[in-house]
Amino acid sequence: MKKILLVSTSPRKGGNSEIVVDTLSGDLENREITVFKMREKACRPCMACGACQGKDTQLCVQKDDIAALLPVIEGCDGIVLATPIYNQQITSQAKLFIERFYPFFKADGKGMSNTSKYGKKAALVCSCWGSPRDVTQRYADWTVSGFCQIGAEEFRALVFDGIPERGQIRERADYLAQLHELAQWLAE
Ligand SMILES: Cc1cc2nc3c(=O)[nH]c(=O)nc-3n(C[C@H](O)[C@H](O)[C@H](O)COP(=O)(O)O)c2cc1C
Repeated sequence: MKKILLVSTSPRKGGNSEIVVDTLSGDLENREITVFKMREKACRPCMACGACQGKDTQLCVQKDDIAALLPVIEGCDGIVLATPIYNQQITSQAKLFIERFYPFFKADGKGMSNTSKYGKKAALVCSCWGSPRDVTQRYADWTVSGFCQIGAEEFRALVFDGIPERGQIRERADYLAQLHELAQWLAE
């Protein structure tokens, strides 16, 4: 059964990013789903201690909810990061989450290689207000391409602009349709 990890990085309860993961979770109910809402979790930044880069070490020496999630990240078939756009970029929470991927890449003399499961699908879903859509789309495409560092080989980036208010995505049938289509892609 496909294992899908859905992550919301918004600090806003009931915000658009939470509705993104809840909608996908509803669509994917016959798959093995993990929903991780960062605002409810203890999430610390990478300490750059390097312990995860040694031989025979555990994934991460920290004791927080992201460390506990690392085996799920490692073994999932699909991962979705839902984030608001803050100041033209993903949230600091989203960046913090991505930086915790460090245990999965190792320097092998030829560059960095991923040690987690390959063949993943990765999606970045950005909710925002009025940032220029084409710029945000290019930025989102680039950002999600970095998920190759956890074995992603197929990528999607969705930009939902014009939704500044909490939960406003519910009024956008076009965006909800894109989410249902994304769920189908993840489930394939
Ligand atoms: C600190 C902050 C900075 C923001 N910066 C931008 C921005 O640069 N561009 C934009 O289009 N929207 C910006 N917004 C609006 C949010 O992206 C928008 O409200 C989004 O729907 C929030 O997602 P959420 O409901 O998942 O929290 C900003 C909001 C906040 C609180």
